[in-house]
Amino acid sequence: DSSLALTGRKVLISAGGTKERIDPVRYITNDSSGKMGYQLAEVARDAGAEVTLVSASGLPNPFGVSVVAVESAEDMFVEMNKHYQESDIVIMAAAVSDYKPDHQEKQKMKKTSSNQEMTLKMKQTKDILAYLGKHKQHQYLAGFAAETHDVARYAESKLQKKKADMIIANDVSNPQAGFNKDTNEVTIFTTDKDPISVSVRSKKEVAALILDEIAGKLRKQR
Ligand code: PMT
Repeated sequence: DSSLALTGRKVLISAGGTKERIDPVRYITNDSSGKMGYQLAEVARDAGAEVTLVSASGLPNPFGVSVVAVESAEDMFVEMNKHYQESDIVIMAAAVSDYKPDHQEKQKMKKTSSNQEMTLKMKQTKDILAYLGKHKQHQYLAGFAAETHDVARYAESKLQKKKADMIIANDVSNPQAGFNKDTNEVTIFTTDKDPISVSVRSKKEVAALILDEIAGKLRKQR
């Protein structure tokens, strides 16, 4: 990956699982560790890029990367938009909650003997990738697709619906891929080429292949 050159490119990456608060002591989240996004950030940094990482992960800050810590999908939406305009490459590796509690209790919810069951009303969050796709100008926009079945079909549809230039699909039911693992197995879907299958390897190597593919497209463009 030493040939990968992103000198002077501004790269914006999201990582980790967002947390959607129910009350001051409870939240809903998912299994994302942030590893995939952090590896993308480190590989881009090593290739000479100026990297901003919008992170909902608890991983330690990588040196030489500007880290913006966020908690919820809404926070991530705001921060991604703040940095979007100036970015050349944008990658949504975060696992963003699709739903959040309809409202957030100000005080800790208490259980009572009369409350044997409780119902949590949820509402949809904003789709950050779709919003960035809709407002795309010069940026190269990539997203992930975490699927358990019909991976290709869902990935192709995300590519179109979210107006992304690339969707990296991982089959998260594979024990060597997806959430929390150090390895991943992906298929890279783009708007102008046949899908590229990447067999199981470290998330660092997967990150290098993804960025290499993107760097190639940018070289062709200008
Ligand atoms: O963090 P790790 O433990 O290393 O695991 C890596 C990973 C499995 C989390 C990562 O490789 C991955 O697949 N991230 C995307 C997970 C996801 O939310 O996928 P999705 O198919 O639900 O969403 C599709 C795309 O839309 C993603 O780029 C996602 O960031 C984005 N999205 C989703 C919902 C939403 N409200 N806003 C979004 O921008």
